[in-house]
Amino acid sequence: MKLCQTTADLQEEVALAKAAGKSIGLVPTMGALHEGHGSLIAAARKENELVIVSVFVNPTQFGPGEDLEAYPRTLEADCILAGKMGADIVFAPAAKEMYPSADMTWVEVTGHITKVLCGRSRPIHFRGVTTVVSKLFNLAQPDRAYFGQKDAQQVQVIKRMVKDLFFYVQLRIMPIVREADGLAKSSRNTYLSQEERTAGLILSKSLRYAEELFKQGERDSSRIAAETAKLIGSEPLSEIDYVEIYELPDLKPVAGDITGSCLLAVAVRFGTTRLIDNVILEVE
Ligand code: PAJ
Repeated sequence: MKLCQTTADLQEEVALAKAAGKSIGLVPTMGALHEGHGSLIAAARKENELVIVSVFVNPTQFGPGEDLEAYPRTLEADCILAGKMGADIVFAPAAKEMYPSADMTWVEVTGHITKVLCGRSRPIHFRGVTTVVSKLFNLAQPDRAYFGQKDAQQVQVIKRMVKDLFFYVQLRIMPIVREADGLAKSSRNTYLSQEERTAGLILSKSLRYAEELFKQGERDSSRIAAETAKLIGSEPLSEIDYVEIYELPDLKPVAGDITGSCLLAVAVRFGTTRLIDNVILEVE
């Protein structure tokens, strides 16, 4: 496994791979790797001849007062896990490599797809994500790029960007990896106290409950959202940011009954830590 810390170094490796006709899989991450990231790397390993994992805590997707400084940075352990899961290259650039100048180009998906859900409390977040992901796509020139369903809105926003900008890359979306007790794996779980960690279980529990209601024939989107919010609210340590249902893929509001494919997404604070989770409700 090779560690590349400059864009030039990565571009050299990519040029060699392209010249050899190798297919390239890219797994963009912010590090503090866990089994959720591991599942993306393993999927990339199966489908590509060269696997690149980027580890970059992207400053432009953090708003003022968010956890940019506190975000866990564990490059050594990340390299070990990435290598174990099959990465050929870990690309871990310094911020100056990715953002060499203060005058810069932004890539921004506009419209309500970036304004709803996390976009409401994190207004500049997705602009930062699409900007860094386009830089990574241009540097790594992947045939396939791997993202997790854990960040469901991010997936829809990146799909839109790829379509609108004609990026020549196949997006592969992998299911949410959970702890044995149901908590979705996240680099931010390390912020939780023991009490908050236990309280956080209400997210997966409430989403399972919503799925059950749906399976039993409930189609009223406001009722499903209200029941889910009620269950989450029953946990005293929880502070709800949103519990909402939107149509896929455009994240349009659902008028009345669910038809087709919808996303039930939740964001909830436990102390200072904000956790997200989601489930897709699909009428067959
Ligand atoms: P990060 O939060 O490190 O996540 C990297 C990738 O791992 C994302 O596609 C995310 O959805 C996926 N992932 C995280 N937890 C997961 C889980 N429990 N199960 C499955 N997949 C999981 O998302 C980002 O970084 C950044 O926004 C990034 C795309 C790298 C741009 O900076």
